[in-house]
Amino acid sequence: MLLFPNARGAAPICRAVLWPLLILQAASAAPSASTLKACSEIAGRLPGGRVSYPLQLSYVAETQRYWSLALRELHPACIVSPQNADQVAAAVQVLAGHADVPFTVKSGGHDPNPGHSSIDDGVLIAMREMVGATYDAASGHALVRPAGEWNDVLGDLEPYGVTVVGGRLGIVGVGGLLLQGGLSFLTAQYGLAADSIVGWETVMPNGSVVNIDAKAQPDLAVAMKGSGGQFGIVTQFTIEAHPIGQVWGGVRLYDESKKDKLYAALHNFVPNNADDPKSAVIFTDLAILQNGTAAVVFYFHEGPDKPTSGPLMPFLDVPPLIDITRTQSYPQLLKANGVFSSAAVARDSFRTFTIPYIPSNPGLYDEISKKWRDITSAYLTILHPTAQCSVDFQPLPGVVGQRTEARGGNAMGLTAADPNRIVLELQCGWLNGRDDAILYALSRDMTNWLQSRMPEWLAQAGLGEEAYMPLFMNDAAGDQNVTGSYRGYAEFKKLQESVDPMGMFAKRAGGYKY
Ligand SMILES: Cc1cc2nc3c(=O)[nH]c(=O)nc-3n(C[C@H](O)[C@H](O)[C@H](O)COP(=O)(O)OP(=O)(O)OC[C@H]3O[C@@H](n4cnc5c(N)ncnc54)[C@H](O)[C@@H]3O)c2cc1C
Ligand SMILES: *[C@@H]1O[C@H](CO)[C@@H](O)[C@H](O)[C@H]1NC(C)=O
Ligand SMILES: *[C@@H]1O[C@H](CO)[C@@H](O)[C@H](O)[C@H]1NC(C)=O
Ligand SMILES: *[C@@H]1O[C@H](CO)[C@@H](O)[C@H](O)[C@H]1NC(C)=O
Repeated sequence: MLLFPNARGAAPICRAVLWPLLILQAASAAPSASTLKACSEIAGRLPGGRVSYPLQLSYVAETQRYWSLALRELHPACIVSPQNADQVAAAVQVLAGHADVPFTVKSGGHDPNPGHSSIDDGVLIAMREMVGATYDAASGHALVRPAGEWNDVLGDLEPYGVTVVGGRLGIVGVGGLLLQGGLSFLTAQYGLAADSIVGWETVMPNGSVVNIDAKAQPDLAVAMKGSGGQFGIVTQFTIEAHPIGQVWGGVRLYDESKKDKLYAALHNFVPNNADDPKSAVIFTDLAILQNGTAAVVFYFHEGPDKPTSGPLMPFLDVPPLIDITRTQSYPQLLKANGVFSSAAVARDSFRTFTIPYIPSNPGLYDEISKKWRDITSAYLTILHPTAQCSVDFQPLPGVVGQRTEARGGNAMGLTAADPNRIVLELQCGWLNGRDDAILYALSRDMTNWLQSRMPEWLAQAGLGEEAYMPLFMNDAAGDQNVTGSYRGYAEFKKLQESVDPMGMFAKRAGGYKY
């Protein structure tokens, strides 16, 4: 998931930059009277300073803390920054009394879809005060707070020699990744990030704080693993921790001439990952200025030694242009992976598609990469010199479903019977807001084409037309029907309605819905 011209939105903001922003924000906000009333009622229920408004520095700083530049242009009526579950509950209770007030929840602000963790004129509940993790050695569980970034969580757990299944770049947000599934370097060993969660301290739509327990409430627990935030606001996750020591990995950058060998290595890796679940790759195929391309591969192997056998070998035989792989601690690796993607800033789009692994079709990756280049090359010209698009090939070997099932199942519906699959992430970064619609359309054209190729690919893979190819929520575009791709859609929808009979989260909050 390499994103060259991007940076996380958490850079310190100096006052000289703030003044023009303040004027801009003051000019555009137009929240309704009942929204402003809800804001002031929430302020009345919370300690001083927990609700901020346009023109206040803490408000402006929060609106600038988004990964995609585009989201920094949205202006909530007020921002609530609760310090604990009870304060979140107070805000939810107030909002329950104002049926016409939109709101949304933000943890790390890395979801690039406008309106998911950002909002115009509604109430933004920013979890920024609830950061980091603690470890309970007796239970072997980590207690993980939703805000901050994976660097915080990993750093807090490092002294105990444990970690949790989480992001692959340390700069990424925590709460959204855990609620929307979570692909990790540890996924072939333990499943999705969400699969290792055993408890969710959650403010439910009725305003009460419930400790959802995977054993006591198995149906709700399965739904919590990959449905996003529609069942309530999670203030703390209880997660099965795993021991971790030194790891080998990092990033290698390759020029275009190495692609054929890299595709062959990827084709070999996917079906063999089950035999070596401690290894992982993210294969990023990058399209830049008019047909220019490069490949970036993120490598991971749990253990101190660079692999000398196994499915990573064909990759490691290809000479890179740049190589920053090494043996290091797991937190160091994630930190380094994040640094690599923080050079400048951009507006961003994500869109996803899930394809089968096709043993007889090693040309699949090149076909997909070429099509994406064809679709984007009209935009990636000298007129937009820093724009880039990429397609990530993310192995989702069938063995992941075994890990999921062993932990009780998840909303994405992975099972032990799953075939090998690959999760595609189509990403673009650009600068001009006037181009947003163009770039969204390019990604849509690409998934339409992928859809049109599926019957043939499924046949080549020996799978029927009905083969299960659920979409991966963390990489999706806001208009993709991710939950509709889940086999448990109807039951999850019913369950959501049962905990949220007024449709408070279903209709008024941002993010994916049943
Ligand atoms: C550079 C980069 C690298 C990435 N790498 C990975 C990766 O390795 N693996 C992976 O799986 N994904 C990855 N992603 C995708 C990432 O998981 C999503 O963007 C995810 O949403 C980030 O979490 P967040 O806390 O920043 O979410 P936010 O943007 O804060 O929120 C996302 C959604 O979740 C809801 N939400 C957030 N917190 C809560 C809460 N506490 N309670 C209820 N609802 C909540 C929000 O309302 C919103 O709808 C990456 C993204 C980026 C930008
Ligand atoms: C880029 O690729 C397209 C389609 O393959 C081709 O028509 C075009 O000439 C190429 N442009 C450059 C600058 O190579
Ligand atoms: C999403 O898909 C489900 C299941 O196919 C369907 O019932 C639902 O109407 C779809 N939702 C939207 C918004 O298209
Ligand atoms: C609120 O909803 C949760 C989940 O549906 C339920 O367990 C709890 O008892 C409810 N609390 C109240 C006070 O109704």
